[in-house]
Amino acid sequence: MAALMGKKVVIIGGSSGIGLGVAEAAVERGAELVMVGRSLERLAAAKASLGPQANVETISADMTNEAEIARLFEEVGPFDHLAATAGSPPPGSPIREINIAEVRAFVDNKLLGAILMAKYASRTLKTGGSITFTSGINKDRPPVPGGAVVSAIAGSFSYFIRALALELAPMRVNVVSPGWVDTPMFEQLAGIMKSELFETMAAQLPAGKIATPADISPAYVYAMESEFTTGQTIDIDGGQSLI
Ligand SMILES: NC(=O)c1ccc[n+]([C@@H]2O[C@H](COP(=O)([O-])OP(=O)(O)OC[C@H]3O[C@@H](n4cnc5c(N)ncnc54)[C@H](OP(=O)(O)O)[C@@H]3O)[C@@H](O)[C@H]2O)c1
Repeated sequence: MAALMGKKVVIIGGSSGIGLGVAEAAVERGAELVMVGRSLERLAAAKASLGPQANVETISADMTNEAEIARLFEEVGPFDHLAATAGSPPPGSPIREINIAEVRAFVDNKLLGAILMAKYASRTLKTGGSITFTSGINKDRPPVPGGAVVSAIAGSFSYFIRALALELAPMRVNVVSPGWVDTPMFEQLAGIMKSELFETMAAQLPAGKIATPADISPAYVYAMESEFTTGQTIDIDGGQSLI
């Protein structure tokens, strides 16, 4: 295992939720961070939350924009690990009522964004470095009705990373698949129903609670540090896929 001390870690989606949890864990382990998102204001707040000792650079870029992703990795230069946690709320309508414009926007953000990251990150990622994407429990336990699109996109990551792990070797490529996590995105999705949903789910989960970003970040740290882990889907869901 190689620790993250002195390693340059890029976190796309680092200004909130799961990405900010990964940022906290990486800083604790001595990494130098580049945190990326669209909003400079969110990035500045996230950087401040990591404290004055943290070695953090923030760069604004939209992962759906090829020119911005190309410019981002040019600016970053050689680096050791990429954690890609950025995402937007999925469309949740039943298939007969689905709005194709919303589906296209989601695919553009989540899937094409990941493809763009792989295209440009792999040019400057150091040998032995890693890329870790994010999918989610909806691939195993899709909401019914309305879960077909998110399930298809989340599930596709497990195959995307297997092919990339072969193509980009010896760089390593993995995906972390979290269960429900208490983040601003979940707040946006569930609104006032959040507490009730969390209480009901926590009572059923083998882990007995809903995850915080700090419960999920060890999976990303593992994917970065384990030199023998590649092409893997790392499920970290408190047992949600079992119930
Ligand atoms: N929370 C859960 O329960 C859960 C469970 C399973 C999987 N996931 C997945 O985990 C990922 C992170 O979720 P989260 O709950 O941590 O969300 P979050 O708190 O809303 O954070 C999303 C992050 O992504 C950034 N982002 C969004 N669109 C972007 C774009 N086009 N380009 C660059 N950055 C962008 C946001 O910053 P800006 O808005 O400033 O760009 C923010 O930093 C998502 O893909 C989500 O589907 C979440």
